[in-house]
Amino acid sequence: MAQQRLIGRREFLRRAAGATVWLAGAGTLFDSPAAAAPAASPRSAAPDVVVALTASPGETQLLPGKPTAVWRFTASVLKGDGASVQPSPGGYLGPTLRLKKGQRVRIEFSNQLPDPAIVHWHGLHLPEAMDGHPRYAVPPGQAYVYEFDVINRAGSYWYHPHTHGITGRQIYMGLAGMLLVGDEEEQDLRLPRGESDLPIVLQDRTFGRDNQLAYISEGGDGDRAGSGMMGGGGMMGMMSEMMGFLGDEIFVNGRRNAVFPVASRAYRLRLLNASNSRIYRLAWGDGTPLTIIASDGGLLERPERRAAVTLAPGERIDLFADFSDKSVGAMLVMRSLVFENLMGGMMGGMMQQGNLPSGAAFDVFRIRVDRRDGSSAQLPERLSALPRLKEEETVNFGSPRPFRLTMGIMRWGINGRTFDMDGVADDEIVKLGTSEVWEFANDASRMMAMPHPMHLHGAQFRVLDRTSSVRRTGLRENILDAGLKDTVLVLPGERVKLLAPFSRYAGLFPYHCHVLEHGDAGMMRNYSVRA
Ligand code: C2O
Ligand code: CU
Ligand code: CU
Repeated sequence: MAQQRLIGRREFLRRAAGATVWLAGAGTLFDSPAAAAPAASPRSAAPDVVVALTASPGETQLLPGKPTAVWRFTASVLKGDGASVQPSPGGYLGPTLRLKKGQRVRIEFSNQLPDPAIVHWHGLHLPEAMDGHPRYAVPPGQAYVYEFDVINRAGSYWYHPHTHGITGRQIYMGLAGMLLVGDEEEQDLRLPRGESDLPIVLQDRTFGRDNQLAYISEGGDGDRAGSGMMGGGGMMGMMSEMMGFLGDEIFVNGRRNAVFPVASRAYRLRLLNASNSRIYRLAWGDGTPLTIIASDGGLLERPERRAAVTLAPGERIDLFADFSDKSVGAMLVMRSLVFENLMGGMMGGMMQQGNLPSGAAFDVFRIRVDRRDGSSAQLPERLSALPRLKEEETVNFGSPRPFRLTMGIMRWGINGRTFDMDGVADDEIVKLGTSEVWEFANDASRMMAMPHPMHLHGAQFRVLDRTSSVRRTGLRENILDAGLKDTVLVLPGERVKLLAPFSRYAGLFPYHCHVLEHGDAGMMRNYSVRA
């Protein structure tokens, strides 16, 4: 916290003064040799909230013994509602940003890392220059100033670096946080709020020597997950890149063995899967059904009760969890249930995955009821009216735009292509103001098959249809496609059709697999929205 106070506005300006500050106002980007002048966006209203956000190396006590070197976000409110930044104590996770629909927000990002970096606001609908496209990454010591209107509906979004080729490592080192948007519609529902509204961020980590985080090809003793029988050096790194990184243990909100103390009342649990590649199949340990009230893009129309729910990297679900009938001392466990290992094909079958393989069962976090609370909360049976998006109103009704998830030479791609920073192909151009049907096809190849959580910047979509050429149980039947989505899991053998509106901003936006190693290795492309 001391650090947050230290980096006040004056300090930020002082640091920024020596460097280039990228000032991006109203969708244009210009190079300003001086510090960020307060009146940066002449054409728009003054921001309601100004936040200083810094990414820097640090140390934290994650395990007994030596502290762990991490990278983390710290933030402070320079102007506006002080509750816009809520620290996430006790781990490495970045603070939770709480914004409101309709606010104009300015975020002064200062990159104090030894790497280039840029921050992406996952799920928010923003102009290109505000969206954190990797092409806007700033070098160490420099700043990037975001200024945008929050136009999304209420929901659980998040923020993380999007630096091409090293996003996986940067998030892994600790750079991620939740970004919650509230609006009036949601406010009127009187859902659990304040202390009863908990961000819960799921990740997995592996530790090497001296309690230090181990990532691909830095496994310390060479015994890290993912080595399998293909173990050793470059090959191991390549395999991890192909499969995605899996950590040996679960960290929740940047902490090991997370326990949330609660009162005996209703809570809103906002679950985010910010793991590099791990998929969770979540269920209460005692078999109580989950009550799901929101997904990626905010509230569902009505609560969904499910025995279990699949949560892939990048996805969010909000649960309504009523502990009012629990006695003090009660302990509840959130589990990830076993599911079939989905690594398929010739290579998939050869790989084993270390200490906590994909599909293994484990405890994710615990809830401990530690105080009484008489208050009771009603969950309304009708939560929200989602925007009506009709398939007939899309410009390509009947012939979805095809995106094949492909495997090249040890490298995933989309339609046989990999990421090209500024490039866009003819079949990746959409028209501003239209809606389209897109279809992701994960046709299992003979070589290698894997699930891919596909994510679009710049749009919240509806999932129209999911078909499969292979019979699957478990993971598949627990996928929740309801509500507005920005990330959708496509299992091997599946085709998923979605309806995406491109309504507000022209520009170049990434779409990619949210297995971070896949995105970093190029399973990412741009699409261009043109007027
Ligand atoms: Cu959460 Cu392009 O990413
Ligand atoms: Cu995103
Ligand atoms: Cu992938």
